[in-house]
Amino acid sequence: MSVEAHPAPSDEFWLFGYGSLIWKPPPHFDQRIPGWVTGYVRRFWQVCILFPEDHRGTPEAPGRVVTLIERSYWERLTDHHSSAPERVWGIAYRIQPDHVDEVKDYLDIREINGYTIHYTPFHPAPNTDLSQRSPIQALVYIGTPENEQFVGPQDPQQLAEHIFQSHGPSGPNQEYLLRLEKALNELSPESGDEHVTDLSNRLRAFMLVQRERSGDSTSRTDSQILRSPHPVNSHHHDFKRASSVDEQEETEKTS
Ligand code: BEZ
Repeated sequence: MSVEAHPAPSDEFWLFGYGSLIWKPPPHFDQRIPGWVTGYVRRFWQVCILFPEDHRGTPEAPGRVVTLIERSYWERLTDHHSSAPERVWGIAYRIQPDHVDEVKDYLDIREINGYTIHYTPFHPAPNTDLSQRSPIQALVYIGTPENEQFVGPQDPQQLAEHIFQSHGPSGPNQEYLLRLEKALNELSPESGDEHVTDLSNRLRAFMLVQRERSGDSTSRTDSQILRSPHPVNSHHHDFKRASSVDEQEETEKTS
């Protein structure tokens, strides 16, 4: 892992999570604050093979996890999802001072694969204890385009189907996607990310088709499966929004 930017100027150590860290916090945090960073675009463009914690695929069928792309770089690419929110929402964690070294060691183990460390200003959301404070320097893990696990722009339907069929020791890749969508939508009324929502909607629609093809007659009706928790950005696709919140919550309880 390389250090690519300047460390936080204060003694405090803050970590910004924009992926699984949103629902899977690091140890020894004493504050958990929703908010955003700017200058980046969140995309499911990182191959995930070897993460001890986020192992969502196998070497034969590596899953996909999110990374942040520098916005100035992303603007030069041709992306099927051609817009992206200015604010990348997530959670910042403040680590207890006497545990900072321990947590940094833990994070090295957890996040090392293909990610580099950056520091970026984090803006606490309104109505949080820190909303009056100026932006906080926070560490963020970024899978840059130079790393071997970086995939780059992908067709959203193919990506959703790829996520559907990727499984690993940490669980199905689809669970990662649906959890991320849910976690983001819970942060604030404006924290949804249309890239994540569109992939989730495509995944749910594909799951329904697969169920119908396999003749799976579960107790749920089609309308329950299709129920979307957050009807965000439905104008981007013309299929029916699909969801199984109950199923997602059941998955969370068992994981
Ligand atoms: C995150 O949740 O922010 C994250 C998790 C793993 C790798 C990179 C980022």
